[in-house]
Amino acid sequence: MKYASRIECLADKSLLNAFEIPETEDMISFSAGFPSSETYPLDAIKDSFIKVIEESGKEALSYGSTSGYARLREIIGSRLAEKFGLQYSLDEIIITSGSQQGLDMSGMLFVNKGDVVLFENPSYLGAVNSLRAHEAKLIAIDIDDEGICIDSLRNALEKYGERVKMIYVNPDFQNPTGRSWSHNRRLEFMETMSHYDIPILEDAAYAELSFEKKVEKPLAFYDKHDQVIYLGTFSKTFCPGLRVAWLCAPKHIMEKYLLLKNAADLSSSAIAQRQMAYYLDHYSLDNHIEWITGIYKKRKDIMAKIIDKKFPKTVCYKNPGGGLFIWLELPAEKDGRELLKRSLKRKVSFIPGTSFYPAGDRHNEIRLNFSNMKPEKIIEGMNILAEITSEYLEE
Ligand SMILES: Cc1ncc(COP(=O)(O)O)c(C=O)c1O
Repeated sequence: MKYASRIECLADKSLLNAFEIPETEDMISFSAGFPSSETYPLDAIKDSFIKVIEESGKEALSYGSTSGYARLREIIGSRLAEKFGLQYSLDEIIITSGSQQGLDMSGMLFVNKGDVVLFENPSYLGAVNSLRAHEAKLIAIDIDDEGICIDSLRNALEKYGERVKMIYVNPDFQNPTGRSWSHNRRLEFMETMSHYDIPILEDAAYAELSFEKKVEKPLAFYDKHDQVIYLGTFSKTFCPGLRVAWLCAPKHIMEKYLLLKNAADLSSSAIAQRQMAYYLDHYSLDNHIEWITGIYKKRKDIMAKIIDKKFPKTVCYKNPGGGLFIWLELPAEKDGRELLKRSLKRKVSFIPGTSFYPAGDRHNEIRLNFSNMKPEKIIEGMNILAEITSEYLEE
């Protein structure tokens, strides 16, 4: 069988590491990248589905419009305005089947084979893989505690010039590092990018999972040149199984996205969209988010406390202000993949940092998810990990 060349770009098995870790019942898993399933509001979801079937069953079980259910887009628009000061009209918002579809369509819209796409280094594996499937040349831009490094960005923009067709960034509680860009770095980034006619794909998947009241404004808020395409999702604040997310873009760009969305799947699930809209109209997603971020903060604190007390002092991390992850840095000569091999034998899993580097060239970090395990399991798993890490670092 002859396959298209793009499949070769995905053939590197190390990229799939994240999804290949055996998750048996007795495993203490710090690998996941999603909310805890025990927080899914099952009764409210059930009620919403029943009401949707009763009130508009025929429409809910038909094809929906390509841009998405209007009432849902309206609510999303109001939430974005209220929470982040973003002003999108209804025709600047479409519903996607997960924000992963928004990433994929963005690759389709802007990237031809061999075009350069700039990425944070490390970055979200799903975005890396999606852009690989479009045969992009991925150029990694360093990040520090404040966000993307502007010098490194300028160098890449200068070096690759017109070959750069897109930049993908995840400024809030990034997957995998949990870091958020500072206010100044956001402004500096937008100022730098304003000199280039390059679309900025802003992935705000974790933006609402803040442990603090104050949240930074999205890059889209500072966009004066219609450059930002903004992706959001209910996967992290509600549940990922519905596959309901959104993409916002200026009208002239949105016209192109609509063509792609229609070609990709005609429309997102009409019943899932209506269920989501019903929930948003009759329940409080904000209360739900407040509740889950309270749970996650407690779990994160437990994890951080054990790292502080029991891990070797040569292991570094930055305490995240939200999101789902803690990013641990081992001494430079150590390898997170080796640590994983050892911890799997003790039934504890996590994701080695290597998986998140587009070039797969850094090995001494690991990503720990804190949302999915109950406190007693976090304590047990982190104590085991502290023990294994101490042994490994002493060698
Ligand atoms: C940064 C980031 N963006 C997008 C996604 C995909 O989310 P969705 O479920 O909306 O497709 C994920 C999922 O892990 C993610 O971590």
